[in-house]
Amino acid sequence: MSIETIGWHKGKLRLIDQTELPGKLKYISTDDVNVVWDAIKRLAVRGAPAIGIAGAFGVAVAALKSRAKDCDALKNDVIKAADYLSGSRPTAVNLFWALERMKAVARSGRAENCKRMKQFLLDEAKNILKDDKIRCRKIGENGERLIKEGDGVLTHCNAGALATGGAGTALSAIFSAKRKGRKFTVYVDETRPLLQGARLTAWELLHEKIDTVLITDNMAGQVMKEGKINLVITGADRIALNGDVANKIGTYGIATLAKAHAIPFYIAAPVSTIDFSIKTGGEIPIEQRDADEIIKCGGKRIAPGNVRVYNPAFDVTPSHLIAGIITDKGFVTPPYGKKIPGLGER
Ligand code: MRU
Repeated sequence: MSIETIGWHKGKLRLIDQTELPGKLKYISTDDVNVVWDAIKRLAVRGAPAIGIAGAFGVAVAALKSRAKDCDALKNDVIKAADYLSGSRPTAVNLFWALERMKAVARSGRAENCKRMKQFLLDEAKNILKDDKIRCRKIGENGERLIKEGDGVLTHCNAGALATGGAGTALSAIFSAKRKGRKFTVYVDETRPLLQGARLTAWELLHEKIDTVLITDNMAGQVMKEGKINLVITGADRIALNGDVANKIGTYGIATLAKAHAIPFYIAAPVSTIDFSIKTGGEIPIEQRDADEIIKCGGKRIAPGNVRVYNPAFDVTPSHLIAGIITDKGFVTPPYGKKIPGLGER
């Protein structure tokens, strides 16, 4: 993708405001940690890796503005900013992983003065962004061979360039397969309630000239039954050590349907999406979002305003439904046993 989802320009964090896509390509340019928090909360920046990168820059801009006079005081400001940003969204572990990396810089004692510590913090945020680009490329390389000439691929939500610092996760595998010269069709779930599939994934795939078919979420079973789908690939927001995966609400249903139709269901994610502290998906916090996201569609009310609503933003797909996990460190298949802990970076 030639457009840049998230970057550092002229002393400011620059994000595409994804709430405006596909109608308008608008940017948010900020050096204010509150604006970063708000952008994450309302999904102006979204997707697990991109949330982590935005969080890291959020800490960096808070540090750059800090009036702390010594390293200890600046370290406290960094911890305060990281704790504040950690309250924006609970499910994608990349946010907490990136915030921990930023806190570790502040705690390291490497900097001899505030100016140096501020520079180290900004460098770390830039490194997180740069690393993610590389991780995306590797996921593409490790996943492309799963997509064969003539295949129908189903994806859910958006796990593309808009969700990462690079080419994406699930979509990176798709883009790499295209670059290998293979022709295939990608079916895109619209992904209610916020329509990341319809608004973002369809936009990215068309931009890359990939044969794209948009369906509503409730059509996936029928499309599978008609024999149009050979494999499913989605991204992930948090992966437990046993291979259970939290991803956008609806993923669990698709994985179940895929199993019923003997279609392989794959996850693509960087190792930074693995939560090495949890054994199973039961420990993953699921974000609950505002009722208005369900009551309204495209700004228009589609249900009685006083109806009770349940709006979990994510679900957990049990590992037994997952045929393989494509990571930047390789492709792991069941039994996941010791394989996922083995992907640990240290
Ligand atoms: O609520 P969102 O849009 O942040 O949810 C995004 C997803 O569920 C993605 O599939 C996931 O973060 C993987 S992004 C590479």
